This record gives sequence, C-alpha cells and structure tokens, in this order.
Amino acid sequence: MTADGAAASDGAETGDGAGTAAVTGATGFLGTHLCERLLENGWTVDGLCRPTSDRGGIDNGDDSNEQNGLEDVNWHVGDLFDRRTLESLVDGADAVFHLAGVGLWSATPDTVERVNRDGTAAVLRACRASDVGRLVFTSTAGTRRTNGTGTFADERDVAEPIGAYQRSKAAAEGLVDRYARTEGDAVTVHPTSIFGPGDGSFTAQLIAMGTEPTMPAYLPGGLSIVGVSDVVDGLLAAYRSGTSGEHYILGGENLTYDRAVSRISDNTGGSPARLPVPSAAIHAAGPVVEAVGTVTDRQVFPFDRQMARLATRRLFYTSQKAHEELGYEYEPLEAHLPETMSWYRHRRK
Ligand SMILES: NC(=O)c1ccc[n+]([C@@H]2O[C@H](COP(=O)([O-])OP(=O)(O)OC[C@H]3O[C@@H](n4cnc5c(N)ncnc54)[C@H](OP(=O)(O)O)[C@@H]3O)[C@@H](O)[C@H]2O)c1
Repeated sequence: MTADGAAASDGAETGDGAGTAAVTGATGFLGTHLCERLLENGWTVDGLCRPTSDRGGIDNGDDSNEQNGLEDVNWHVGDLFDRRTLESLVDGADAVFHLAGVGLWSATPDTVERVNRDGTAAVLRACRASDVGRLVFTSTAGTRRTNGTGTFADERDVAEPIGAYQRSKAAAEGLVDRYARTEGDAVTVHPTSIFGPGDGSFTAQLIAMGTEPTMPAYLPGGLSIVGVSDVVDGLLAAYRSGTSGEHYILGGENLTYDRAVSRISDNTGGSPARLPVPSAAIHAAGPVVEAVGTVTDRQVFPFDRQMARLATRRLFYTSQKAHEELGYEYEPLEAHLPETMSWYRHRRK
C-alpha cells in the first residue's frame, strides 16, 4: 500500500547494487531481517555483535528453512564504544546501516542516551576515520509529531522530544545531519512501530491483544504499524535513492489499537481484548510514576507524565516523501500476519 492507501506492488527488491554492508544492531529484530535480505541479494555483510548477543537469527520453527540466515555474516565482536572494532567493521563498506540502539524498557535513561546518542557519535567517528560509502541511520518516527492540528505527521514536524529515548534519537539525528553537511554521505530513516517475526515486545503484545482471551484490554489511541519487510525495503531504498542529509519516514497503516486488534483477531480466529484501558488511568499513572521517581531518585517505570499523555494519542504518520523520492511502499497488516503468527505460535510452544 502506498502512503495514500493505494495498493502496493509485491515489494520485491530491485537491483540495490549489491556491495559490502556494515550493520550495527545486526543481532536485533530489524537488524536480523536486514542482514538476511542483504545476504539473499548477494551483499557481503559485516555485522557488529556483542559477546553476549544472540546470533541465532529468527527461529520460526520452519524445518524446511534449513538455516536462519545469519551464518554468512562476518561478525565483528565488540561494543559500539570499541573504536578498533567499529573501524574494522565499517572500513571499505559501501553502506553502513547503523541500527544499534536501546529503548527505555530495557535500559536506564542514562544508558539510552549513551548508546543512542554517543553510540551514533562513535559510528560517525569510525566512518570519518575509514573508507565508507553512505551511512543510513535508523532513528524513530517519535522525533516527529503533529502540533495537534494536522492528522498525519511528516518529516517537517520536528517535535520537542519527550523522554530519554526521543531526546537521544533527536541528538543523534543532529550529529548525522552535521556529518552529511560537512564531510560524509548520510541519510536518516524514521520507522514507525515495526511489526514482524522476531519482535518479542510490540509485535508480541499486539498479537496477544488480538488472540488471547486472557488479555482483557487494549490501549486507547492509535499508531502507524509497518511490517518489518517493508522497513527493510525502505532501508535499502534510502541507501540506493535517498538524498544525503535528508530524512524519510518509513510508516505503514495508521490504525487505532481497537482496529488493529480486531483485524488481527478476524484473521487468526482469536479472541480480541474487548475493553480499552481508560485514557484517564494511563494519564493518572504518569504523575504517580514521576512522584515515585522523585522520591527514590530512580526511574521505576520508563515513562512520566508527558509520555503517559502521548500513549493515548493517535500518532499517525505519512510516508509520502519516502514514496515519492525512494519508491517506498508498504503492505497492509494482513500481509504480514501469516509469517508473524507462525513465529508467534512457535515461540509460545
Ligand atoms: N522496533 C521498532 O518498532 C522500532 C521503531 C522505530 C525505530 N526503531 C529503531 O530501530 C533500531 C533497531 O530496533 P530493533 O527493534 O531491532 O531493536 P532491538 O531488537 O532491541 O535490537 C537492538 C540492537 O542493538 C544492539 N545494541 C544495543 N546496545 C548496543 C551496544 N552498546 N553496542 C553494540 N550493539 C548494541 C543490540 O545488541 P544485542 O543483541 O547484544 O542486545 C541489538 O543488536 C533501533 O535503533 C530502534 O531505536 C525501532
């Protein structure tokens, strides 16, 4: 489907000029899918992983799929802050896909800032010191938001960041923009909420709301849901056709949670969550969490008053610019369900 809702083509990747790609975050949800596609398309792939990273790829339980795709990655073991490892990772790469990052559910605000902002600075330092082609940086659509009057946010709707995650990504975007202006070639993409096999957080929760009778409630508000294979298409298109210094939102269908949950349920024969969590309850949680954080000098939950308000809004996006300049298209939620459901069911066994 295109940004205006027209039907998408089959999404087949066309001639992305296979070369050498360096990928940070190669062991993560999006990174695994990107590496698999790059390898399928004939690229040489160098991936960054930590000693503790799971390099097993996505286990969807499909026995006919003999390997899960990451065996052919040339692994560089180290952290974003290991200068030598990063330089050896990116040197000679035609494309550097910088995906590594952390969110507030898995790390403290300080770590989020350090990994997302300072980690991006480290990648840029390595790019400057090495021979690299284009950097494609993965930020988030969360750094864009309408001011309340428009329905769909676009790349120009730069928002005041809310929370450490958005703040760190906005700061990283600034560093990448400066690199593109002064010394290198770099493009920034902004995925919305990514749905697909291998994602134990957002995807698993949304499917649970659509299929598990024990899930009593869904969230108010709405969001843009994009299939992981469409985001991979967008990353490759940004490398191939993006303009250095530019930003591209990679979104999908704009859906209320209610609608998304019903569509999953209709397609899978599940029992959807029937009652919305009242907005008031979510708004009320913000100040409580803030107060506990102030008293204990520690953030107990990864949200505050502003983030609680944000959670109940309709955060809708247009990918029109990516469509026009990159040829980006996305498919509806149903197109991503069979593979994702197969992974989800296997994971629950
Ligand atoms: N998922 C979404 O809905 C979504 C939406 C918008 C933007 N994004 C952005 O897209 C990117 C990929 O997201 P994802 O969902 O794939 O995340 P993910 O599954 O949590 O993967 C994160 C990756 O970053 C690596 N990493 C974290 N800290 C690191 C460090 N200090 N040094 C080296 N590597 C480190 C992780 O390595 P380990 O395997 O060792 O943990 C992992 O490979 C992130 O930048 C995220 O902010 C995601």
